Amino acid sequence: MKGVVLAGGTGSRLSPLTKITNKHLLPVYDKPMIYYPIQTLVGAGIRDILIVTGGRNAGDFLRLLGNGKEFGLSHLNYTYQEGEGGIAEALSLARHFAEGHRLCVILGDNIIQSNITPVVEAFRQQERGARILLKAVPDAERFGVAELHGNRVINIEEKPRQPRSSYAVTGIYFYDESVWQKIDRLEPSERGELEITDVNNFYIREGSMEFSFLEGWWTDAGTFESLLRANNLVAESRVAAPAEAQ
Ligand code: DAU
Repeated sequence: MKGVVLAGGTGSRLSPLTKITNKHLLPVYDKPMIYYPIQTLVGAGIRDILIVTGGRNAGDFLRLLGNGKEFGLSHLNYTYQEGEGGIAEALSLARHFAEGHRLCVILGDNIIQSNITPVVEAFRQQERGARILLKAVPDAERFGVAELHGNRVINIEEKPRQPRSSYAVTGIYFYDESVWQKIDRLEPSERGELEITDVNNFYIREGSMEFSFLEGWWTDAGTFESLLRANNLVAESRVAAPAEAQ
């Protein structure tokens, strides 16, 4: 399975922190933000990884990460997103890298506590389709929100004013080889972006979307509040389990 980390976009919600650097290079406790999603993939045994960067500081990713030696990798792949056309547009840039393979996509500002190996295994067992990871949150209106019916997800609404559930769709997605055809069918949303939620709804409509609940804590880090929360959660988990022991 291939891994894709999406770290494009301008991070305008974190200005002025992002005026002279990329959001995903900002510190989260003792490491740059981008380390965490890469570690999530590597920790689940996904070693063939593409990083989609963007903005004015893309070269810094190469300087920081090189070939991924710090993660025990011998190679990392990079590509560049011009502008900020949305998460699904950033993903479309991974087509040359991942076409013909299944893939795990993670947003560059998503930080989680647990190891996702069991979810990777569950997706491997799936004949086709996609799998998302859900987490109950108190502020679902900030996210894509999943509507559940029994053990099926029947719809996802992007940042609804009145969420129909408390289940946020986290920024970790598993897709089969049909994802590229689905991206080809997308139209820009009201905010002018190609939305990953529309890709996920295509899978739901064809009856091939599965989900798992994410264990442990999860946060994004794209606003001042969530960046602070990410720092605190990582710091607390380091105290609970010091880095040398991890
Ligand atoms: O964090 C999970 C949420 O992420 C999901 O619940 C939402 O459904 C999903 O749309 C997304 O919402 P956000 O509004 O938080 O996404 P944001 O624009 O902050 O982008 C998140 C990451 O995606 C960002 O850190 C880098 C990547 N990205 C985003 C855009 C817009 C790109 O690589 N390129 C882009 O053009």
